[in-house]
Amino acid sequence: MDTPEEPLEIAKGVYWVGVIDWNLRDFHGYETPRGGTYNAYLIVDEKITLIDTVKASFADEMIERISRIVDPSKIDYIVANHVEMDHSSALPRILEVAQNAKIFATERGKTGLNEYYAESGCSGWNFETVKTGDELNIGKRTLMFIEAVMLHWPDSMQTYLKEDNILFSNDAFGQHIATSKRFDDQVEDVMEDAAIYFANILTPFASRILKHLETIGKLGLQIDMIAPSHGVIWRNDPQRIIDAYAKWASGKGNQKVIVIYDSMWGSTEMMAKAIAEGVRASGTDVVLFHLRKNDWSMLIKELMECRVFALGSPTMHNGMFFTMGGFLTYLKGLRPKDKKVSFFGSYGWGGGAIRQMEEALKNTKMEFVEDPLKVKFRPEKDDLEGCRQLGIKLGEIARS
Ligand code: FEO
Repeated sequence: MDTPEEPLEIAKGVYWVGVIDWNLRDFHGYETPRGGTYNAYLIVDEKITLIDTVKASFADEMIERISRIVDPSKIDYIVANHVEMDHSSALPRILEVAQNAKIFATERGKTGLNEYYAESGCSGWNFETVKTGDELNIGKRTLMFIEAVMLHWPDSMQTYLKEDNILFSNDAFGQHIATSKRFDDQVEDVMEDAAIYFANILTPFASRILKHLETIGKLGLQIDMIAPSHGVIWRNDPQRIIDAYAKWASGKGNQKVIVIYDSMWGSTEMMAKAIAEGVRASGTDVVLFHLRKNDWSMLIKELMECRVFALGSPTMHNGMFFTMGGFLTYLKGLRPKDKKVSFFGSYGWGGGAIRQMEEALKNTKMEFVEDPLKVKFRPEKDDLEGCRQLGIKLGEIARS
């Protein structure tokens, strides 16, 4: 088996034993051009404790990595912080090896694991359910559990290692990066990857994140290291990612306009470019995204960071272009806060795209600004000037 990555001791007796998914390019629809990792951590104490597992297809690689530290059959405890399969689907395999291991999970975690792994013999698994503030002594060390409901599943939990001040945060504070480096200070642009991750995974739960950060504050935890279940570990001033989460969860955007569009024969694209020119002329930053030529995960991150955006679609089959339909379904589910939106598009003999785009977003908290701009066939000089004027107004709104 090819397991080039050694386990890494991140604190005395605490090891990263996860796996690197170098070829991950799509994480349930989230584009991951830099790959990803599934992090698991092993604490060697009187009770050998595994924090989270990995995707089933990597189970034996994780077990092999653990075996370089201890005999995997000697694992006493497994903390299952989260049911989603990227962290739990190796459980059936590891429990074949560590047959006496007890699993610690929230009540909802236990229920979820039972539902996923009914055919893997989970009725015989030894569970103990835990809740916020519960502690588990593992020898010289103590684990404390902190429920993280809807961050981002109902079962989600985090685990704090008291003696070493390490927060095993599961999905929160993660990033999708495949790298042989394990720490934030070894990877450039890690904050950018963390922002993309937040935008695509955690935006719908922004208010929960703010409450969770409050809970962590009230518990008075000193956090020297945040070890998430994806990407690199935050050891260089972990407060900076906590502060970034507080900012991103607040929904406050930058003074920037994003123009998002698709185009069949170039007319809607001409409109998009004229709008962008107007935004620039107003003195506001602007970014254009063609829906079929860009990574949507990055686009969503840019959108989360702006105050104002414009959506453009040609009319096709009496409605919006199919990519815009898919994009708006995704965007609506993310429920971004404090965004203003305007619509534009070209049509041939019957419109419909703008009506459908408005319909798709009408029951969200996104505020519609300025009248939509529709152009029949190809935009003329006056039409493009109208687009430019719309851009100027959107730029002013973004700066207001
Ligand atoms: Fe990384 Fe919600 O799983």
